[in-house]
Amino acid sequence: MKAVAVIPKKEKSVHLVEMEKPKLDEIKNGRGVLVEVLRVGACGTDREINNAEYGVAPEGFEFLVLGHENFGRVVEVSENVKELQKGDFVVATVRRPFGASIYDKIGQQDFTTDAEYWERGISRLHGYMAEFYVENADFLVKIPPKIAEIAVLLEPLSIIEKGLKQAEDIQKRLDIWQPKTAAVLGTGNVGLLTIMALRMRGFEVHGFGKQAREGYLNAQLCEAIGATYDSTDGLSIVNSVEKYGEYDLIFECTGYSPIIFDAMQSLNENGILILASVTGGERKTDAVPSDKINQEFVLGNRAMVGTVNANREHFEMGVKDLALCEAMYEGWLARMLTHKVSGLENYEKVFEILENSGKYNAIKTFFEVNKI
Ligand code: BGC
Repeated sequence: MKAVAVIPKKEKSVHLVEMEKPKLDEIKNGRGVLVEVLRVGACGTDREINNAEYGVAPEGFEFLVLGHENFGRVVEVSENVKELQKGDFVVATVRRPFGASIYDKIGQQDFTTDAEYWERGISRLHGYMAEFYVENADFLVKIPPKIAEIAVLLEPLSIIEKGLKQAEDIQKRLDIWQPKTAAVLGTGNVGLLTIMALRMRGFEVHGFGKQAREGYLNAQLCEAIGATYDSTDGLSIVNSVEKYGEYDLIFECTGYSPIIFDAMQSLNENGILILASVTGGERKTDAVPSDKINQEFVLGNRAMVGTVNANREHFEMGVKDLALCEAMYEGWLARMLTHKVSGLENYEKVFEILENSGKYNAIKTFFEVNKI
């Protein structure tokens, strides 16, 4: 079968490989599921891996098959799989509990304290940019056929669901927390999915991006589900507070780390800031009003939390939000799927769009590996 791979730590090494079709018995205990890949999304992490900034090959391999934003159809199941059958649509989670930490042992590998982690398509495990994969049924989430068209968005959404769940858990420190307003920093595909998830929870949501509002599809998408959009070129996060009030919750997903200090100054009392950008660079920033930030955090019982990856429960939360969003704003999620590239052999096109997403006005670029 065909697959798209890179040589980790070698720049622009993305290429096509020919591999053996995986077999059910690679998974022990009769829990194997063979999945035909239908769609695979491409994101900034894939771009970073191809730019040699990130990514580790599996043991014994020189290459790493890319792809973690997946969607597929079950072809065959082993004898101990009762919850899935041939023809079911599934999305697989990304991280596996192969570390030594206590969190890996209790199935919370998304909270591992190990320095190494096992993530399909990213670190130490081959990914889903392939025609087929096998996986243990424990890591597969069943997808209702009515959301098949947009289910390739579930994996990025799962990251947000985990962030929101963490915020909710942390805010249990307050006997009553009735958040009303939220700011989402960044309106790329992760930002838009965050805005959607917060709108599904009834928040008044304010999205912020770099680009001017006029003619910007992402801004139109914000407004189509009742959120606002402002360009930070015209309105900084700190100044936006005069317009919208302080935020009960801020979700940061711009990839631009200096903005977190602006966000820290724009939180309401008891508010929470969620950080979700993986910023691999070396950027430093000065002129941070540290006394002010520190004092506000202390006097206002404010909180800030980092979040990475997602577990099964977060994927399941995501399925519900996708379904609810389809019910409330039919067709909105499909508008995010701006660039479909058919066939794994056209990987160069996918990476060309990924590298120049501004030029292409791309929100989500994905491979159609097989027809739904
Ligand atoms: C993936 C996560 C992963 C993170 C860090 C993201 O792109 O969606 O599953 O944990 O990268 O490797």
